[in-house]
Amino acid sequence: MPIRKRKFDSLIIGAGGGGLRAALQLSRADAQVAVVSKVFPTRSHTVAAQGGVNAALANVSEDNWHWHMFDTIKGSDYLGDQDAIEYMCRAASRIVYELEHTGVPFSRLDNGRIYQRAFGGQSKHFGGEQATRTCAAADRTGHAILHSLYQQNIRAKTHFFDEYFAIDLIKDDAGYVLGALVMEIETGEPMLIEAKTTLLATGGAGQLYRTTTNALINTGDGMAMALRAGVPLQDMEFFQFHPTGIAGKGMLITEGVRGEGGYLINRDGERFMERYAPHAKDLASRDVVSRAIYIEIREGRGCGPDRDHVLLKVDHLGPEVIKKRLPGIRDLCLTFLHSDPIEKPIPVYPTAHYTMGGIPTNRYAQVVTPARHGPEEVVPGLYAAGECACVSVHGANRLGGNSLLDILVFGRAAANHIIDYLNESRYHRGLPDAGVQQAMARLERWDKKGDGETVDSVRAELTRVMEQHCGVFREQTMLDEGVKKVQELASRMQEVRLTDHSRIFNTARVEALELENLMDIALATVCSASARTESRGAHSRVDYPDRDDEHWLKHSLYFNDCSLDYKPVRMKPLTVDSFPPKARVY
Ligand code: FUM
Repeated sequence: MPIRKRKFDSLIIGAGGGGLRAALQLSRADAQVAVVSKVFPTRSHTVAAQGGVNAALANVSEDNWHWHMFDTIKGSDYLGDQDAIEYMCRAASRIVYELEHTGVPFSRLDNGRIYQRAFGGQSKHFGGEQATRTCAAADRTGHAILHSLYQQNIRAKTHFFDEYFAIDLIKDDAGYVLGALVMEIETGEPMLIEAKTTLLATGGAGQLYRTTTNALINTGDGMAMALRAGVPLQDMEFFQFHPTGIAGKGMLITEGVRGEGGYLINRDGERFMERYAPHAKDLASRDVVSRAIYIEIREGRGCGPDRDHVLLKVDHLGPEVIKKRLPGIRDLCLTFLHSDPIEKPIPVYPTAHYTMGGIPTNRYAQVVTPARHGPEEVVPGLYAAGECACVSVHGANRLGGNSLLDILVFGRAAANHIIDYLNESRYHRGLPDAGVQQAMARLERWDKKGDGETVDSVRAELTRVMEQHCGVFREQTMLDEGVKKVQELASRMQEVRLTDHSRIFNTARVEALELENLMDIALATVCSASARTESRGAHSRVDYPDRDDEHWLKHSLYFNDCSLDYKPVRMKPLTVDSFPPKARVY
């Protein structure tokens, strides 16, 4: 059967904030842009970002980008690349004003300026008093940004392929990425999208874990596609657990709640963060707060009949603040807990939230393959931005409010570079048959139903294994067992049965393809974690409790054959002095 073909200048896979920011700029520059999204674009996971986007606007208290840069480096536990971090923090104010002009309805201060709230790990004067840096649209900032970007893209005539699933990248012998094979989910029909450039903006892989803030769609598709195309994944051992997911359910309760003055208490009513982070308290960085909650529970000071969570107290903020600044949180509590935070504290527990690692890129969002024992090389035609990428601005731990910033800054950086690339590349190179056949084979494998265990049951087991073997606290035996269990699950994938019982729906095929992607990412995560014998940021080893800069101040690279390599952290910023590693206390 002949495969449908479409040709564009630029293909963008993923319609979250990163993809749409890039698409808008490219369409406005008259490029022919295709955006492929497995869901309707405004259902992309950016829509779930609550608390806000960081920029040192100084609307509430004094601030500047250099302090933001310091906080981000310290938050990253010194693993972030300082040139990329400087680039991001310097660009932040401009990016936020641009959003304001794009139509994002930011909350306002009485003087009309954009409202900003305090978030974790923010400081004035390089580690001094708490800063107030997170620009917010109530507690629905991602929703506001995504909808504005989508509307502007419609106006700019970006071409959307809604509910299309990306199967694999197409690469030629010279190493150029020339587009992708995608499948229309409704019909199951494959389609080739040929493009001079391809931007992966597919988000993270929170679905690796049983309890997560992430949408069902966050299955690491772009990362897995890059891995299959020969690109190693960087720093996959660093997975962020957000301290305040709704206990037992996982939905995000924004850090903005603590930024507005909420705080955590244990069963004795003690404000326990004062012991773990005497200065920043509840607004210490996320890895610190998540570990503190675990320890409180482990030592018997958890709340509820099973002592298995802590409480986030907000009732003292009063109904006006809660209704004005945190309406979405109140809705979540009313819907999922049947309780009103105006009256009762919220039961919370750490929940899988953010993939710090991903596809290695430079600060122009070009994908780079660090060749073993050789110089880094750009993969021509391939870009990545946002959570699927690792540029690396978050290092070992991301600060809240920096993810929306990351997608916008590097979505823009990608578009800037792509425009130059398109100017120099007037012709399409032509799709190679072998690459197309390989991608088709991946799709065709799921034409039949199979007769082993169901996709659902294997996926459920994978998330349990990841939770048990690669969670907040880690240890060698536990990690090594995790590697074996994931490998064993991956081999069981060969026999897996599509979950539908009567006939094959395309959604069942998508679930199988997603599980294959998750399996690759799980292996990358647990293998990288098992190899790093130190504690840094979100990677907390009980058997190696200290950070070890002498041996481990380096990025990991996981290759598809399960091997690892390492590359240095870029410690040199663009224009200012470097921030050398020092003890990280809050
Ligand atoms: O807590 C939050 O609102 C999450 C923000 C973020 O992950 O950046």
